[in-house]
Amino acid sequence: MIRYYEKERIFKLDTPHTSYVIGIVDEENFIGHAYYGPRISDAGVGALMRTDEPPFVPSKNNRDRSSFLDAFPSEYPGNGVGDYRESAIEVLDANGNTAVQPLYVKHEIYAGKPGIPGLPATFADDGDCETLEITAEDAILHLEVKLYYTAFSDVDVITRSVRVKNLAKEPIFLTKVMSAALDMDAEDYEMLTLHGSWARERQIEQRKIGYGRQNVASTRGESSHQEHPFVALVSENCDQEHGRVYGFHFVYSGNFLAQVEKNQFDSLRIIMGIHPQDFRWELSEGETFFAPEVVLTCSQQGLGGMTRTLHDLYREHLIRSPYKDKERPILINNWEATYFDFDTEKLLAIAREAKESGIEMLVMDDGWFGCRNDDNTSLGDWTVNEEKLAGGLKHLVDEVNRIGLKFGIWFEPEMISPESKLYRAHPDWAIALPGRTPCRSRNQYVLDLSRKEVRDYVYEAVASILRSANIEYVKWDMNRQLTDLGSAVSGARGQGELLHRYVLAVYELQERLIGEFPDLLLENCSGGGARFDPGMLYYSPQIWCSDDTDAVERLKIQEGTALIYPLSAIGAHVSDCPNHTVGRVTPFETRGNVALAGTFGYELDITKIPKEDRAQIPGQVAQYHKYHALIQSGDYYRIASYSKNHAYDCYAVVAKDKSEALLTFVQVINRPNYHSRRIRVPGLAPQKRYLLEPGGEIYYGDTLIHAGINIPNMWGDFQSVRLHFTEVTEA
Ligand code: DGJ
Repeated sequence: MIRYYEKERIFKLDTPHTSYVIGIVDEENFIGHAYYGPRISDAGVGALMRTDEPPFVPSKNNRDRSSFLDAFPSEYPGNGVGDYRESAIEVLDANGNTAVQPLYVKHEIYAGKPGIPGLPATFADDGDCETLEITAEDAILHLEVKLYYTAFSDVDVITRSVRVKNLAKEPIFLTKVMSAALDMDAEDYEMLTLHGSWARERQIEQRKIGYGRQNVASTRGESSHQEHPFVALVSENCDQEHGRVYGFHFVYSGNFLAQVEKNQFDSLRIIMGIHPQDFRWELSEGETFFAPEVVLTCSQQGLGGMTRTLHDLYREHLIRSPYKDKERPILINNWEATYFDFDTEKLLAIAREAKESGIEMLVMDDGWFGCRNDDNTSLGDWTVNEEKLAGGLKHLVDEVNRIGLKFGIWFEPEMISPESKLYRAHPDWAIALPGRTPCRSRNQYVLDLSRKEVRDYVYEAVASILRSANIEYVKWDMNRQLTDLGSAVSGARGQGELLHRYVLAVYELQERLIGEFPDLLLENCSGGGARFDPGMLYYSPQIWCSDDTDAVERLKIQEGTALIYPLSAIGAHVSDCPNHTVGRVTPFETRGNVALAGTFGYELDITKIPKEDRAQIPGQVAQYHKYHALIQSGDYYRIASYSKNHAYDCYAVVAKDKSEALLTFVQVINRPNYHSRRIRVPGLAPQKRYLLEPGGEIYYGDTLIHAGINIPNMWGDFQSVRLHFTEVTEA
C-alpha cells in the first residue's frame, strides 16, 4: 500500500512487514529518504525526514548548500553540485559538463506495476502491488528522471527502477544511470556478498564496512562467476533466524556496480545499477533510457527471512515459464559422459539405458554441429554434423522419442569461432576493436548482437533447428566474457552503448524464442553459472548452477545460490567419480541427495558407470518424484553450513502448510570418537506431530523445532541422510 501525506509531503510505502518512507524537502524539492525497515505506523512518519538539523541545514542563501547536500539522505543523488558521495546519475552535456540534479516535480500512485520495455522485471496483478512514480527534473538540462517504486502486498519487497528522458532539443550523453540509491544510518551493519570463479560460483563472504567505498562489480559483459549483482546489509549477530537484513538484488545480466559507502557522518549509501565503466548512452530529443530493476527486501528474521522472501518473489513474480510449477523432466546430459566424442549410436545407447532407469529426457550437449570435435571451431555454423549424427537430427530425436525419452539440445548462440564458415563470411560480426586482434577466450569471439542482422541470423539458426524436430528443451550456453569492446557499425558515438545493447539483444532473442516455442523448457548456462541472475530467470525457469558437479563443492555453491534463488531454479546433476573437476570420490547416494536440492538430473555415461551406482538410479528417480513438488514450492531453511563449520552441512525444505519437511544432512568429514549431532528442524508447526521416514518414529513439532533430532555419526567421509517428516493427522 502506498500513501501520500500532502501536508508533510511524505510518501509511505508498506509491504506486509516493512515500510519505506520518502520525503520532499525544501522549496527546491529535494527527494529525500526518511526510512526503510520493519513496518511502522503512519502517524508521525514526517518527523523521520532529516531536513533542518546540522549538518543538514538547507540554507536559502545557498551558503551552506554543500554541507547540506553532502549529508542529505537522498533518494536519487545527482552529480557535481555538492554531494561528494557516489552519485546515481551523471551526464556529458553539449558543453562538456557532467553535473545533473533531479528535483521533484510531481508524482502518481496507481495499482499494478508497469513492465520495463526490453528488460526483465518482476510483475504482479493489480491487486497484488501498487506503484509510486515520482517525476523529477533537472530544469537546466531539461532532463526528466522518473523514479519507480513498487510495493508488493504478498511479499516484503519493494522494487525500484528509473527512466531518463531527454526533453531538450540537443542530444545528451548519459554516462551513469544507477537503478537505485539508498541512504541510511550505518549502525552495526556488515556487508554480505557472493564471490567466486569458474567451478566455484557464489561463495558467501561477510565483511565489516569501513569508511569509504566498497563494492562488488562486473565489467565482463555478464553478471559473472566472479562477483554477483547482490549485496546484503546484515546486522551484528544476525543469523538464519534473528537479526535485521537488507537485501539488494539487480535484475540484470550484464555489467553491474553494487556499492556500499560509509561517510563522515556514519551514514551508508548503497547504490546499484549498470556499471558506469564503458557506458555512454546517447539520448536524442524525446528519447528515454530505461534502467533495469533493483529488488529491495528487509527481513527481521535474519538471513532465512530474506531467503524465503526472495524465493517467493522469484517463483511468483519473476519466472514466467509454463514449467514454473511443473515437474521438470529428469534429464541426462552427455557433456561429462562423452564431451565432443559421440555419435547417434552412443547417444541412443545412453538413452536406452536411461529409459530403463526412469530418466525422462536426453540432452545432447556441445559438439553436434559444423566440424566441432573440440572447442577450436564451428560456433556460428549451426548445421548438423551428419558424420556424427548419421541420419540427421530428426532421425536421432525420433529414435530418442521412440525409446520413450524427450529430447533436448545445446546451443551457444552468442558466439563465433574464428575457425568457422560464419567468420569467414562475416569477420566484422565479431566484437573487436579496429587495428587490434581481439582477445580469444576458449578460442572464440563474441558476436556483435547490437546489430539486427546478426540477431536475425542467430535467431533463425536456433529456431530452424528447433522447428526441424521434436526438441523440448534448450540449454543456452555462453562460454566467454566480453573484451575488445568495438562494434564495426555503431560509429564513434555508439561504442559506449555496446555492452548494454548486447544484454538487451540477449533478452530480445530469448523473448522471441519463448514466444515462438512457448512450451520449450529453456535452461540458461554460462560456463557453468556465470550468468545466474534474476534477469535470466525471467526467460528461463532454471539455470545451470556450476560446471563443478562434485557433491562437496556443490554444498558451498548451492548454499550461496539458494541464499537468494529458489531451488527450482538451480540446475543440479549427479555426475561420475572421480569428479571431473576436483577428482574427489563421493558416494553415489550423496551425489543424488545433493542434486535433489535443485532441478535434478544426470551428467554421466550411464552405460559405463559402476553397476552399483546404476542400480541406485531408479531409487533416486523415485525420490525425485516423491519430493519434487515440496522442493519446488516449499520454504527453504539453512540449518548448518559446511562452508563455516568445515565438517557438515544441513538444510530443510518445509511445505508452506507445514504438513511435511525434507531435511538433508551431509557429513562431509567424519569426526572419530564423536557423539551424534543434534539438529534442530526449523519451520515446522510446534503443535503438529510428524512421522519420520526412515524409521517410523513420531516426533512433536515443538521437540523438533527446539530440541531437534539426533543424527548419528556415520562411518566415512561424504556420507549423507535424508529425513522426511510428514504430519500425522489421525487422533
Ligand atoms: C559449459 C557448460 O557449463 C557445460 O555444461 C557444457 O555445456 C560446456 N560449456 C560445453 O561446451
